Amino acid sequence: MRTIAFYSLKGGVGKTAAAVNIAYLASQAGYPTLLWDLDPQGASSWYLAGADEVKGHKLSHLLKGKTPIADFIHQSEYENLDFIPSHTSFRNLDVKLDQEDGSNLIKQWLAPLSEETSLVVLDCPPSLSRLSEQVLKAADEVFVPVIPTWLSLNSWKQLQEFARDKKLKPSKLHPFYSMADRRKGLHRELINAQDEILPKGLKTIIPNASVVEKMGEEGTPVELLAPGSVAADAYRRLWKEINRLL
Ligand SMILES: Nc1ncnc2c1ncn2[C@@H]1O[C@H](COP(=O)(O)OP(=O)(O)OP(=O)(O)O)[C@@H](O)[C@H]1O
Ligand SMILES: [Mg+2]
Repeated sequence: MRTIAFYSLKGGVGKTAAAVNIAYLASQAGYPTLLWDLDPQGASSWYLAGADEVKGHKLSHLLKGKTPIADFIHQSEYENLDFIPSHTSFRNLDVKLDQEDGSNLIKQWLAPLSEETSLVVLDCPPSLSRLSEQVLKAADEVFVPVIPTWLSLNSWKQLQEFARDKKLKPSKLHPFYSMADRRKGLHRELINAQDEILPKGLKTIIPNASVVEKMGEEGTPVELLAPGSVAADAYRRLWKEINRLL
């Protein structure tokens, strides 16, 4: 079982969109995949479950060991793709993790799933916290969407510093350009300088595309919504790059 995370300090950079599309493509490639929505806002559960309301179990039950992690798993409507929906009680996850003795709860919770699951995809909220630290440690590879702007690049730098502080392997962090809009001068400039700015990053650039926004309205992965679109092609290339690292 491999665990990957989509993570950034910055909000609204395309973490959830990437997590959902990559989890879907992985499942279609035949990997039993589990998407865990760690964001209390619950965006990725919403994408997968469409308009149907998904009720998540309470975090406290997991923490107390009353409910095994398997009971938190929902089947999506797609073959090979399950998910753990978010719950508003995940808001407290940070505080709870802080009370623990330094062991990595995320890793411990995932361990029993290793037989049935090939790939775990963690969709994280945008914060630098105990939760992010544990996620960054538990994940084998971490994918970081970066909008081609200085602000977004700056939060990528901060994340690298955080990783150094926490003695995380820098090589597990993989930035990639997200929501790129070539009509904008700055985006074009930073994309042209991609090899200098993100030398070890992934090469795939996820374009800013209305079909990705539509995903939110329809609750469907881009691959199903508009398979011939530039965005669907970009997510397929992103998945290929990610798969090579697993
Ligand atoms: N490639 C894209 N093109 C256009 N819109 C996008 C793209 N990716 C994401 N969006 C839209 O931008 C918004 C934020 O995207 P998303 O939820 O994936 O970001 P996020 O990083 O997970 O945000 P948060 O930090 O709030 O969890 C959403 O409305 C989404 O539909
Ligand atoms: Mg999100």
